[in-house]
Amino acid sequence: MSKLRAAITGVEAFLPDYVLTNAELELLVDTNDEWIVSRTGIKERRILKGKGKGTSDMGAAAVLQLLSKTNTEASEIDLLICATVTGDHQFPATANIICDKVGIRDVASFDIGAACSGFLYALSTAATFVEAGVYKKAIVVGADKMSSIIDYSDRSTCVLFGDGAGAVLVEARENFGIRDSILKSDGHGRQFLHQKAGGSVMPASKKTVDEGLHYVYQDGKNVFKFAVTKMADVAAEIMERNGLKGEDVAWLVPHQANQRIIDATARRMKLPPSQVMMNIEKYGNTTAATIPICLWEWEKQLNKGDKLILASFGGGFTWGAIYLEWAY
Ligand code: COA
Repeated sequence: MSKLRAAITGVEAFLPDYVLTNAELELLVDTNDEWIVSRTGIKERRILKGKGKGTSDMGAAAVLQLLSKTNTEASEIDLLICATVTGDHQFPATANIICDKVGIRDVASFDIGAACSGFLYALSTAATFVEAGVYKKAIVVGADKMSSIIDYSDRSTCVLFGDGAGAVLVEARENFGIRDSILKSDGHGRQFLHQKAGGSVMPASKKTVDEGLHYVYQDGKNVFKFAVTKMADVAAEIMERNGLKGEDVAWLVPHQANQRIIDATARRMKLPPSQVMMNIEKYGNTTAATIPICLWEWEKQLNKGDKLILASFGGGFTWGAIYLEWAY
């Protein structure tokens, strides 16, 4: 019998209705459409509106659609992992809240915080449990309400991020599924991308709020420098160690942070733009959600056995790649 592998057997996503365009951002900060498009590739992003709405609402919507689409009962799920940096609360885990909202009870559920690489970290973790036979049906959610931690008077960050969620079902399959994964981090890089206040080092206070220290802090130049090399390096590394050439790969599924970072990764892999999933122009950087949202948008174009390379870079720093064969 051939080896059982953990495979993605369904994908869904949720994107809020509100579209924040570059034109609207021009009214908030000193920026322009030409600058944003040429430096990042982003034209618009989605924003979750509504008092009391959080990351779990988007995650739960994606999970409900996933259960329905894959004819799966909530009672069949035995693990749910949510990758996010914008959890509803510091605790409990947003995964717990999503489970409650969709009726998944008495299962293992927890969050993973690896910023923009969160989905790859969570998928790799779920896959390990499924391949070991510990759990049969796992759901991995990548969801972020980045608008909750963005300063809309800071032109260097507010143009980049958006809100969204994606969810995949992970089950064991013969022949197809996840074949390899590489996960890396370098905590020294935290100085270039972090949230200063709201954690145990600097708990939220009137002063931290007045000074805007709960917003994303980013040194864009340094993040770009690391991202552009690390994401290409890790994509090349996973191809090399699996004996893959550009012509073997059907799709690159990159984290959507900046079009220039994605282009550099594709060039290194020797993949034409037609084989790169890119929707950054519509959604911006939705952090943990970008990769499952891409899989959902391209699902109909995927064929059983297609070789996909998923690659990411994000805060931490964290970065990684997953090589999988599409299972349906
Ligand atoms: N509109 C207009 N001008 C802007 C601007 C905006 N939205 N944001 C910054 N600028 C200005 C800067 O103030 C700077 O002006 P100055 O030269 O007078 O100081 C100029 O544009 C160049 O800024 P710089 O930071 O060098 O631009 P850049 O080419 O590096 O692009 C980013 C900025 C943020 C797009 C880019 O650094 C980037 O994408 N970094 C990585 C971000 C990322 O991926 N983060 C998530 C990690 S997963």
